[in-house]
Amino acid sequence: MSEETSALPALAVLVSGRGSNLAAILRAIARDELHARVALVISSRADAPALDIARELGAETRVIAPKSFASRAEAGAAIIAALQEAQVRAVALAGYKPILDASVVEAYPDRILNVHPSLLPAFAGGMAPKPQADALAAGVKVSGCTVHIVTADVDAGPIVAQATVPVLDDDTVDSLSARILAEEHRLLPLALEWLLSGRLRIENNRTSLTRTPQQPEE
Ligand code: GRF
Repeated sequence: MSEETSALPALAVLVSGRGSNLAAILRAIARDELHARVALVISSRADAPALDIARELGAETRVIAPKSFASRAEAGAAIIAALQEAQVRAVALAGYKPILDASVVEAYPDRILNVHPSLLPAFAGGMAPKPQADALAAGVKVSGCTVHIVTADVDAGPIVAQATVPVLDDDTVDSLSARILAEEHRLLPLALEWLLSGRLRIENNRTSLTRTPQQPEE
């Protein structure tokens, strides 16, 4: 690792599947839009295609499958140990399926972001493509995605950013999901940049952006 790269804040990305949001994060870093380095990719599954994306780009990978631990708390302890070893400043959940143990959330307060494929609080809970299918079934005319801070309550932490997309009359779950996904790819790296650059303020369950970075918290 070059000296310049090692000076960048370390980010961990937690994945379970395809990994297109991980790829978007890596692209944003390569384009110098996100000033971070992916120090670690943790997958909850050994067969996740996201792992190939990570390896191709030389990111460190770990498989921590909650099912191979006696409890969610034990899996949480393994995740915390890996994050601490990699000295990460922030964590992105990018298509990560398991519910994180509360101990992980407590170890990284206001430092974990998740991307969800709906305009929260609408269609919370459930993994893709359930939120998109629920939006279609409800007949909403707009949908989108939300990046939020991860708290102990699933899909309920402070909202950092949202992007909307139209729902078209002839949309299928796939076509709507693809339109939302393009916005996820834009929004998650942007929100991570806000968090890591110290511009994100969180107060009373609401976030705001400061013009200039605040003192970085250690
Ligand atoms: C995305 O739609 C994300 O919002 C949801 O799961 C999907 C993951 O896609 N949580 P990918 O693995 O990043 O391609």
